[in-house]
Amino acid sequence: MAQEQAPPSGPDLTKGVGIGDFVDDKLLGHVGDEEVLLVRSGGDIFAVGAHCSHYHGPLAEGLVTGASVRCPWHHACFDLRTGEAERAPALSPIDCWTVEQRDGRIFVTQKRDQPKPPAMAVKPDTPNKIVIVGGGAAGFAAAEMLRRRGFGGSIVMVSNDAAPPVDRPNLSKDYLAGSAPEDWLPLRPNEFYGASKIDLQLNTEVAAIDAKQRQVRCANGASLDYDRLLLATGAEPVRLPVPAAGPHVHTLRSLADCRAIIADATGAKRALVIGASFIGLEAAAALRTRNIEVHVVAPETRPMERVLGPQLGDFIRALHEEHGVVFHLGETVTAFDGRRATLKGGSTLETDVVVVGVGVRPRLALAEQAGLAMDRGVVVDAYLRTSAADIYAAGDIARWPDPHSGAAIRVEHWVVAERQGQTAARNMLGAQERFDAVPFFWSQHYDVPINYVGHAEQWDEIAIDGSVAGKDCVLRYKSKGRVLAVASIYRDLDSLKAELAMEQGATP
Ligand SMILES: Cc1cc2nc3c(=O)[nH]c(=O)nc-3n(C[C@H](O)[C@H](O)[C@H](O)COP(=O)(O)OP(=O)(O)OC[C@H]3O[C@@H](n4cnc5c(N)ncnc54)[C@H](O)[C@@H]3O)c2cc1C
Ligand code: FES
Repeated sequence: MAQEQAPPSGPDLTKGVGIGDFVDDKLLGHVGDEEVLLVRSGGDIFAVGAHCSHYHGPLAEGLVTGASVRCPWHHACFDLRTGEAERAPALSPIDCWTVEQRDGRIFVTQKRDQPKPPAMAVKPDTPNKIVIVGGGAAGFAAAEMLRRRGFGGSIVMVSNDAAPPVDRPNLSKDYLAGSAPEDWLPLRPNEFYGASKIDLQLNTEVAAIDAKQRQVRCANGASLDYDRLLLATGAEPVRLPVPAAGPHVHTLRSLADCRAIIADATGAKRALVIGASFIGLEAAAALRTRNIEVHVVAPETRPMERVLGPQLGDFIRALHEEHGVVFHLGETVTAFDGRRATLKGGSTLETDVVVVGVGVRPRLALAEQAGLAMDRGVVVDAYLRTSAADIYAAGDIARWPDPHSGAAIRVEHWVVAERQGQTAARNMLGAQERFDAVPFFWSQHYDVPINYVGHAEQWDEIAIDGSVAGKDCVLRYKSKGRVLAVASIYRDLDSLKAELAMEQGATP
C-alpha cells in the first residue's frame, strides 16, 4: 500500500498569517504541498522555498543577513529577492513567492518566475575564449558562474577524469556507504554542458601551458588558445610507499576510485583504512555502514589532533570505536603479502579491501611548467590571479592572501574551491573582486557533522562552549586571545554567526 505523505508543517500561507506569528523574523509554513519560509528583513517580507538547493538543509534554521539567508548545514547563501544561490556549495536557486499584505496580514499568493541572473557588462577587454583546466569543484563552479553572468564566449573545460564533475565529498560519505544512488553525484546532468555550450573534454590530459602564446597543449596533441585561463587541477592522493600493494589497495579521489572500493567492499568481511585523515575516517564510517569490520592504522596517537585539537580528536576516536572501528594508532603498514598487511610493530591483519587516506598533494606540475610563481602551491593575489597575465588559479592548488588570518594560505576544502572558482570566473570577466570568503569545511562521521570556519594552523588555547561528548559544542581556537577558527557540532547557527563575525572583523 502506498504510504501517505506527511502534510508540510506550519500554517497555510495562502490563508494569511500575522507578523506576531514570526519567531526570530522567520515563519515556516506551506503553500499546497510545498514548504515556504517567510522572512522579515528590514522593512521587507520575503517568501522563499524552505530548503537549500544543495542537500535540502532547513533554511528556517539558517541565518538571515540583510536580504539573504545562509544555510545552516554548509553555509550556502541565497538572495531572498531573487532566490539566486549567491555562494556555494549551493549552485541552483531556490523558489521565490509573491507576498501581499492586506488588513495587517501577510498572504503568500504564487510562485514567481525565476528572474534571469544579472549579466556582467561586456567591456573592450572582455575575453572571447576561456579555458578551464580541471573538472572538479573550482573548475565547474567557474564554468557555471561564467554562463550565469552572461558570458557569451567559448568555454572549454578540460579534465583528465573520465567522469563529468561530481559531488566529490559524497564519495567518502553516503555514496560509499551505499545510502546515496549514483545519480546524486553529478553536479549537473550531462545535458547541461551541451545546453550551456560548455565544451567539456573528458579523459583529456593537459600536458603544457604556453603562457606567452596563451595556449594550452593537451597530451592528445590538440592545442587550445585562450584569452583567460583558469588552472584548477586540484590535488592527488599521496600513494603508500609500501611494496606489493595489490589491486585491493585503493586511494580515494575520483568516482572511479570510489566505484573500485565499492566493488571490493561488496561481500568483504574486513577493511583496512590506512590514515586517520578526514577522508580515511569518513571512509571508515561509510564501510561500517556496510557492516564491514574496519581497522584503522595511523601513525599519530590521536586522530585529527593537528587540525581539530585533542578534545575533538578523542571524541572522534571514541565515536568510531562506539561504531566498532578498531584503531591501531602509532602504527604504520610496512608490507603487504597478498591480502595480509604487516604493521611496523610486527602484527599482521588479513583484509579484503584497503583504503589509503594519508593526505593529498596539490597537482602543481602544470603551473610549474608554465613558469608561474610558486610557494607550496600556486601563488595568487587577492583576485586569484597568478603571476602570469590572464592565468587565474583556484581550489586546492591556490595559495591566496587570506585577509582573516593575515597569512597566505592554501586549503583543501570543497566550499572554498567552489567559491574561488566563482570569484575567479567573475574576475576573468573584469569584476576586480577580492576573494575574502572565510574558509569553511565540514566533515561527516555517522550522524555527527563537524563544521569548521576560519583557519588555525596553530593555537595556544581552545575554548569550549557546551559538551563535546554530548555532541553539542562550539570550540574556539585562539592565539593570543584572538579567535582564528571555530569548530562546532550541532551548533549550526553559532557556526554561521562565527562566519559572519569573522567577515566583519569582529570576535566570533
Ligand atoms: C573523498 C573526498 C571527500 C571530501 N570531502 C570533503 C568534505 O566533506 N568537505 C570539504 O570541505 N572538502 C572535502 N573534500 C575536499 C574537496 O573535494 C576538495 O577540496 C575539492 O574537490 C578541491 O577542488 P578543486 O577544484 O581544487 O580540485 P578537484 O575537485 O580535485 O578537481 C581537479 C580536477 O582537475 C583535473 N586535472 C588535474 N590535472 C589535470 C591535467 N593535467 N589535465 C586535465 N585535467 C586535470 C582532475 O581530473 C579533476 O577533474 C573531499 C575530497 C575527497 C577526495
Ligand atoms: S544543505 Fe545547504 S549548504 Fe549544504
